[in-house]
Amino acid sequence: MEETKFVKTGIDGLDEIMRGGIVPNSSFLVTGGPGTGKSIMGLQFVIDGALKFNEPGVYITVEESADDIRYYARRLGWNIEELERKGLVTIIEQQVLERSMVKSLVSIEYIKQLVREKSAKRIVLDSLTLFNFMYSNDTTTLRTELIRFIKNMRTIGVTLLMISDRYSTGIDDIAYAEEDFIFHGVVLLSKLRVQASYERCLHIVKQRGVDHSMKIYPFKIGEGGITVITDATPFALTSGRDQRIKE
Ligand SMILES: Nc1ncnc2c1ncn2[C@@H]1O[C@H](COP(=O)(O)OP(=O)(O)OP(=O)(O)O)[C@@H](O)[C@H]1O
Ligand SMILES: [Mg+2]
Repeated sequence: MEETKFVKTGIDGLDEIMRGGIVPNSSFLVTGGPGTGKSIMGLQFVIDGALKFNEPGVYITVEESADDIRYYARRLGWNIEELERKGLVTIIEQQVLERSMVKSLVSIEYIKQLVREKSAKRIVLDSLTLFNFMYSNDTTTLRTELIRFIKNMRTIGVTLLMISDRYSTGIDDIAYAEEDFIFHGVVLLSKLRVQASYERCLHIVKQRGVDHSMKIYPFKIGEGGITVITDATPFALTSGRDQRIKE
């Protein structure tokens, strides 16, 4: 079988369940409800890329300020300012103020220039709302532009992690979105209820051409970011739920 050298996310446990990582220069979608850890996963993709693999990355934030992102990073124990100084991490803030500005940001020329300047290998766009904002009344153009953007990222030789919001509560009744069919891979972050509490879970929805795990895994967020617990099943899905509540 043909050997692929995967781009490791660096996120503990995630590369293992993805059977190696992300296919180089492909596009990956991280999706989930509010507060499920999407931005942290995106940030960690760039930060671990820098720390563990010495790969420069760019994080484009649309809904939050660059300082917010730096604050979250520091709270998770990452010295993001130092990585920025070294040019290994670049945070770009794109407040959605007016359409013309947004158009100039997602222009391929702008991204190409950034990638060249920083020798970036990883790009995170947080979030796809940017495209919704630009083409809200025209779903066909939105889809076309998204596909064009993804193709261009591939051409310029970066691996793209895109973040999108999901308006769904459970994992059994997930309504898939238009974008799920466009990306090479999709990971879904969720929170499952265990009696009077929630636990964080994730699963790989798809990863084209790769035999990924089909299981649902619990994960935690803390010092160092996200850790996927690969040797456990979520308590919400096992008979161990009573035990969990007592902890
Ligand atoms: N330093 C930390 N230690 C532990 N947990 C944290 C820490 N920082 C954030 N969290 C948890 O992560 C959640 C936020 O994660 P994140 O911002 O990645 O979510 P998100 O899915 O991007 O949310 P949104 O849809 O609002 O953008 C918080 O609600 C909190 O539960
Ligand atoms: Mg977020």
